[in-house]
Amino acid sequence: MKSNVFLKPPHLPLVAPSVLAADFGRIAEEVIDAERCGADLLHIDVMDGHFVPNLTMGPDMVQAISKATTLMQDVHLMVTDPQDFVKPFLDAGAGSLTFHIEAPGLKEFGPLELIERIHDGGATAGIAINPETPAEAVASVISQVDLILIMSVHPGFTGQTFIAEVLEKVRWLRNKLLPRQRLAIDGGISIRTGHDALEAGCDVLVAGASVFRASNRAGTIANLRGDYPR
Ligand code: DX5
Ligand code: ZN
Repeated sequence: MKSNVFLKPPHLPLVAPSVLAADFGRIAEEVIDAERCGADLLHIDVMDGHFVPNLTMGPDMVQAISKATTLMQDVHLMVTDPQDFVKPFLDAGAGSLTFHIEAPGLKEFGPLELIERIHDGGATAGIAINPETPAEAVASVISQVDLILIMSVHPGFTGQTFIAEVLEKVRWLRNKLLPRQRLAIDGGISIRTGHDALEAGCDVLVAGASVFRASNRAGTIANLRGDYPR
């Protein structure tokens, strides 16, 4: 299994390019290039057309990406029934699974049980929260997760505008997490909004369009991480 950068980060913050913004016609080349340009992991947006109004990729894509790169994949499950997809994505090579606290399927299959199932499969577990969901919604699972993913756009599409109000949740959650737990932000992350998110307390930046549509991907990733003066 690939080394898990959430458990043993080589540095912080981590930059996680979102493959949703890559050229799907050249996916292997795109992820190889992201790795060469300094990505710390890959963010995989899975959408089922129910939980969000878009359809994207499934376990076969994760398996193909696993073969092309050594980067860990964090699978962001924007699906109604995340419990149905734990095994398929773990079998495909995902190193981390992140599901939404708002997922309707959790009414029957509680979040703690799902986290346990992900951990039993050898992966880290993350919980995602939508812009309109209060941070308190994840209070009961905070101690069990490896990652909290704050959505800074309404999930569904790449290239949307950052919702700055969610930084309040970042500040609230930062003080409640242990050093081993990561706090990620996803949606509309550019050098500028990424900087604001880091200042608020995030240590993982998910970035789609700003990385994959950049003319200088390596420079953009380094800038997101704060390696160069802005
Ligand atoms: C949105 C997805 C994001 C998205 C980010 O529903 O969860 O991961 O791909 O893309 P950008 O960075 O372009 O907003
Ligand atoms: Zn995402």
